[in-house]
Amino acid sequence: MKRTALLLLGLVLAGPCGAQPAPQSAPQPAPQPAPPTVHISLDQDPDVRWKPLLEVFDAEYLQKAAATIIDATVPKWVHHAIAPVVKSLENHIPPPYAGEIRSLTSLFGGNVSDVILLNFAYEASAFCTSILAQDKYGNVYHGRNLDYPHAVLRNVTVDVVFLKKGKVAYRGTTFAGYVGLWTGQSPNKFTVSGDQRGTDRWWNYWKNVVSLLLKGSPVSWLVRETLEEAEDFQDAVMRLAKTPIITGVYYIVAGVRAGEGVVITRDRKGPADIWPLDPLNGAWYRVETNFDHWLPPPSTDHRREAANKALNATGQANLNMSSVYQVLSLFPVCNGITIYSTLMSAAAPENYTTVMWPEGCHKPT
Ligand SMILES: *[C@@H]1O[C@H](CO)[C@@H](O)[C@H](O)[C@H]1NC(C)=O
Ligand SMILES: *[C@@H]1O[C@H](CO)[C@@H](O)[C@H](O)[C@H]1NC(C)=O
Ligand SMILES: *[C@@H]1O[C@H](CO)[C@@H](O)[C@H](O)[C@H]1NC(C)=O
Ligand SMILES: *[C@@H]1O[C@H](CO)[C@@H](O)[C@H](O)[C@H]1NC(C)=O
Ligand SMILES: *[C@@H]1O[C@H](CO)[C@@H](O)[C@H](O)[C@H]1NC(C)=O
Repeated sequence: MKRTALLLLGLVLAGPCGAQPAPQSAPQPAPQPAPPTVHISLDQDPDVRWKPLLEVFDAEYLQKAAATIIDATVPKWVHHAIAPVVKSLENHIPPPYAGEIRSLTSLFGGNVSDVILLNFAYEASAFCTSILAQDKYGNVYHGRNLDYPHAVLRNVTVDVVFLKKGKVAYRGTTFAGYVGLWTGQSPNKFTVSGDQRGTDRWWNYWKNVVSLLLKGSPVSWLVRETLEEAEDFQDAVMRLAKTPIITGVYYIVAGVRAGEGVVITRDRKGPADIWPLDPLNGAWYRVETNFDHWLPPPSTDHRREAANKALNATGQANLNMSSVYQVLSLFPVCNGITIYSTLMSAAAPENYTTVMWPEGCHKPT
């Protein structure tokens, strides 16, 4: 019975992995709005630290947004069938996440199984583009688009600044109610983004849930832990490459010094490939979407090629944060399901910028 329910959980949370949005014709949106920023103090108990979310989001709206996402992904009868199983996962979730998830549940006025479900739903279908690039002065830039097929996420995107003893420990961009990070920065140390690895198919998802029960971090929790604990770029790369996780992923990491940039292709147990910047040999940028870099992407997915072409056209001599942003906002790198873009440079942490795409991006007509 339990096993069946887990299998169902896997099936229903798969979401539209691999789905590329149909190009639509609409004008390119004007200058993009920023998401709200909240400050979360890690010195506070996990049970209360997310309270500042309610200063910028309405609890009722968050509850509705969660319901919308769950209704769109999980058939009602399955939702009912798996609720007890999901709830039993609660006992296997390590600190601080267990406390944070419990408190988010009471903040939302919702249901602990729904909040857990949400935290794992994102885990399964985050589409993304990440760019690492180094200018001719040795500054390293890191940009990312996060694509996810639920428009309501545009209304719950939030920049979170995590504080320790009143100082910024690290920051990231996430969705209200989600405790992991897919995008983040440890100031003056490194930046990191995660992109879903397309080869890990949705039908393996139930295995991921089971392996959580056994051991292994969700990929977005490892990002957060690394931001919290790693000493520098090299330490971050080691942790992100070696720590067991529940599903394959690409980790894109940039540091503060010239040459510090790498795309890590992850299997659950360890690294499948390490692909560093190699500026001395002409490789001054790396683009990672959702496919192994040594293989061609599916013929319907033109994001990698479009980004490579645009970076070639920009040229290393003209590279800066705004030119990386230009590349990220180009169709189809930015597309109908793009939720936000983040620009980072660990050596200039104050320049961390996230913009939202309220309408996504559409093929120019
Ligand atoms: C929690 O979810 C279950 C299953 O969907 C539902 O039966 C129950 O009424 C919900 N409880 C609350 C407090 O919303
Ligand atoms: C997001 O919020 C805006 C403004 O409040 C609203 O018009 C829009 O319908 C919301 N989008 C979704 C998908 O809920
Ligand atoms: C970009 O430039 C590199 C180096 O000249 C070249 O190998 C690559 O094919 C170019 N990519 C595209 C998409 O134009
Ligand atoms: C970034 O580079 C472009 C040329 O690619 C230039 O037009 C622009 O002024 C630069 N922006 C900043 C902030 O330096
Ligand atoms: C950060 O922003 C400042 C002010 O706009 C700019 O002068 C500086 O070049 C930026 N640094 C990087 C690495 O983009």
